[in-house]
Amino acid sequence: MTISPLVSLRERLPQLKLTTDATDLEHYGRDWTRRWTPAPLAIALPADIAEVQTIVRWANETGVAIVPSGGRTGLSGGAVAANGELVVSLERMNRVLGFDAADRTLTVQPGIALEAVHNAAREHGLIYPVDFGARGSCQIGGNIATNAGGIRVIRYGNTRNWIASLKVVTGAGELLELNRSLVKNATGYDLRHLFIGSEGTLGLVVEATLALTEAPPASQVLLFAVPHMQALMQVFGACRSRLQLSAFEFFTDRALHHVRAHGAQAPFEQVSPYYVVTEFDAADEAAQAEALAVFEHCLEQGWVSDGVLSQSEAQARSLWRLREGITESLAPHKPYKNDISVRIGVVPAFLQEMQELLTREYPQFDVVWFGHIGDGNLHINIVKPAEIDYAAFIAECERVTELMCEVLRRHGGSISAEHGIGLVKKAYLASARSVEEIALMRGIRAVLDPRGVMNPGKLF
Ligand code: MLT
Ligand code: ZN
Repeated sequence: MTISPLVSLRERLPQLKLTTDATDLEHYGRDWTRRWTPAPLAIALPADIAEVQTIVRWANETGVAIVPSGGRTGLSGGAVAANGELVVSLERMNRVLGFDAADRTLTVQPGIALEAVHNAAREHGLIYPVDFGARGSCQIGGNIATNAGGIRVIRYGNTRNWIASLKVVTGAGELLELNRSLVKNATGYDLRHLFIGSEGTLGLVVEATLALTEAPPASQVLLFAVPHMQALMQVFGACRSRLQLSAFEFFTDRALHHVRAHGAQAPFEQVSPYYVVTEFDAADEAAQAEALAVFEHCLEQGWVSDGVLSQSEAQARSLWRLREGITESLAPHKPYKNDISVRIGVVPAFLQEMQELLTREYPQFDVVWFGHIGDGNLHINIVKPAEIDYAAFIAECERVTELMCEVLRRHGGSISAEHGIGLVKKAYLASARSVEEIALMRGIRAVLDPRGVMNPGKLF
């Protein structure tokens, strides 16, 4: 008779919230990717750092693998547990632990939702500027583990820029306090940054101190209809040089089609192949007049064919919904996702080449483009045609991803801009990182997680 390793975990932590309920295994064993069937051993929901540390030490002794789990809104399979792992959900560790007015930092537990972080910062008259559509469900620990990007990166950068300090439990079970919120700290390697974007392969984030900043002035949202692909970056150039932008996003008519099928209203009478949503500071009439002047200039140049400027917060929100509703509207179709990036200067040439490639390779597929074009990050989603079987569809998409990797390599781009590698893009890591880099990453992983218990099989 084999004794379940959970018995010894129970003995060590009698008070630990642990579940093997079938619904829980299903719920916590997957993220927003729907490709893998969840099959975790159990779900642990620790209440504090000491419990996390004991779980990791137990995993080292028993060899049971750990899958760290936040809001599971990831799109690369990084939080999937399909091989008898113990899922460690941080959702009960979801409190704000403190605010420091002098340092302008907020200390939080990892399971707090991004939206709750936004609200807490606002209560102190400041903002935490990283933002994206999954804000209500994703958790800050997962944001850190994936170095989440989103819609404000052109102004504020990625999550990495806003982490003042971190407490982590390494794969060996050691508790590290990294950087202690120092602005300057020239004492060797900044290990904090190794954990940011490590996709749960080095350890678990158990506490974070986030840097906050001042709220920008009041803003407005402009939605443009753009008649051709090459005009997208011309509109970006015009907006960036004259307005103080906090977002510059695009989507295609196919994306709008899906969002409308999901309940959104068409913004214009005429359909356009491309749309841009941009948000900018509009504190006074001069800034608003400048936005209208930019619009007129773009119209004269033939870069846009129509536009709407938000006149209220409600209208701004409804324009944003056209862009932020895309992921949800596509989810029932289980799309194959690509999340790629190139340097901003390369975007026009890259767009051209990608469009040719996708038109040639996917004539029968519904290809939905959208994303953060202002920072060079494009989401290319392929929707499965009803008549094709799922496995054949994925195989076809993977064949085209290889061709895409070749284009990316030529343009010096990346196969994952912000979603991470996880399981979905593991086979393509070598297209963006050199053999030497991957060998060094493996070495770092082996040092911090010598028994290989942290999220095995993810990343590489
Ligand atoms: C987005 O920008 O909406 C997210 O990265 C989600 C997605 O790509 O589906
Ligand atoms: Zn995105």
